[in-house]
Amino acid sequence: MQAVILVGGEGTRLRPLTSLHPKPVIQLVDRPFMVFMLEWLRGHGVDDVVLSCGFLPTKIEEALGDGSALGIRLRYVTEPEPRGTAGALKYAEDLLEDRFLMLNGDVLTDVDVSAQLRQHEATGAVGTLGLVPVEDPSAYGLVLTRDGGEVTGFLEKPGHDELVGIDEYLISAGIYVLERAVLDRIEPDRNVSIEREVWPALVGNGLYGFAARDAYWLDIGTPQRYLDGTFDIVDGNVRTAVLDRLGEGSLAVDGGATLEGRVLGPGVVGAGTRVGTGSSVGPQVVLGRGVEVGRGTRIERAVVLDGAVVGAGCELRDCIVGPGARIGDRTVVRELAMVGEGAVVGDDCVLAAGMKLFPGVELPDGAVKF
Ligand code: GDD
Ligand code: MG
Repeated sequence: MQAVILVGGEGTRLRPLTSLHPKPVIQLVDRPFMVFMLEWLRGHGVDDVVLSCGFLPTKIEEALGDGSALGIRLRYVTEPEPRGTAGALKYAEDLLEDRFLMLNGDVLTDVDVSAQLRQHEATGAVGTLGLVPVEDPSAYGLVLTRDGGEVTGFLEKPGHDELVGIDEYLISAGIYVLERAVLDRIEPDRNVSIEREVWPALVGNGLYGFAARDAYWLDIGTPQRYLDGTFDIVDGNVRTAVLDRLGEGSLAVDGGATLEGRVLGPGVVGAGTRVGTGSSVGPQVVLGRGVEVGRGTRIERAVVLDGAVVGAGCELRDCIVGPGARIGDRTVVRELAMVGEGAVVGDDCVLAAGMKLFPGVELPDGAVKF
C-alpha cells in the first residue's frame, strides 16, 4: 500500500523547536515524530511512502533516510514553491498509484486505517476521509455525513455561526484514502487547497467519511499539544512502539544512564543521562540522551532534549528544553516556556507564561523573572 504524507508546513507554532528542524523530524519522546507515523502506517501494510516536502527538505531526508530501517520505501518530492495541500499532491502525481493514502504530516494517531480502507472499498468511494470527534472544531475541517458515511458538507475552519444545529463535531483527521481520479480535479502548477477547493467539490460525488470515534488522535502542532502527545505516549493512551520499551513503573531507562536522584515513570531517560543526588524527576518526564541534571532539581511533566544541561536546585514543569540548552542553578522554567536549541539561561531566572527563547540566545544570571 502506498501513502503520500504532506510535510511542507513551517510549523511556526512550535518554534523554537522547529526553528532549526522541520516539524516532522523534531524529537518526540525518543524518536523523530515522523517515525511514529511511519510505524503506525507500516502496521497497516503501508510499504511505500512519498514525503511531500517544502520547508527544510534536506533535514527531513537526513533524519529519515530511505526508510529501509523501518521496512518502508521512502521517497521525497520537493515542490518549487508552496503549492497548498492539493497542489502538493498534484506535484507528486507521477509517483502515485491508482489508490493511495494521503496524510497530514502532523498527526499522532492509532486510527484503524485498515478498517478505513475496507469501508472505502465497500462503498466504492472516490475519497474516504478519516474522521474523529472533537469538542471545538474551529481549528479543523468539520465534516457532515449521513448514515452510510456519505459526506454532505465540508467546512474548513468553521465560524461559530456555522455550528448551529450540529450535535456532533466530527472533523477531518488528515487521513484520507483516495482514488487517483481525485488528481484530475486539481489544476497543475498552482497553489490549491484540498480542504477549500477539492473536498467541497467532491461532496455528493463519491466523498465518504470513516468515523474513528474510539481512536487516539492529536495534531501535535502547538507546545501544549506536543507535551500532551509526549505524555499520552508514555502513559500508553496511544498505541505506539514506545510502550514495548517501558518497564516497571512505565519507565524506560537507556544504557549508561546514572540515576542518583529519584526518577518516577511514566517516562523515558535516554542513554548516558545523569540525574544528580537529591533530584526528583517525573512523573511524565522525557530526558533525552546525554542530559545532565544537577543536584536537588525537580522536573515534572517536562521534556529535556539531548545534551541539555540543567543546573542544581532548578524547577522544571510543563516546559520544553531544547537540545544542548544550558540552564543555570536555581532557575525555574514553567507554564509552557520553551528553551531553544543551544540557548543559555543563567542562574536565578524564571521563565514562564509561554515564553520562547530562540536557539543560541543567552540570558545572564537573574535576567528574567515573573
Ligand atoms: N508539501 C506541502 N505544501 N505541505 C503542506 C502545504 C504545502 O503548501 N501546506 C500545508 N502542508 C502540510 C503541513 O505540513 C501539514 O502536515 C498538513 O499539510 C496540513 O497543514 P496544516 O497547516 O497543519 O493544516 P491544519 O492543521 O490547519 O488543518 C488541516 O489539518 C486538520 C487536522 O489536523 C486540515 O486538513 C483540516 O481539514 C484538518 O481537520
Ligand atoms: Mg495541522
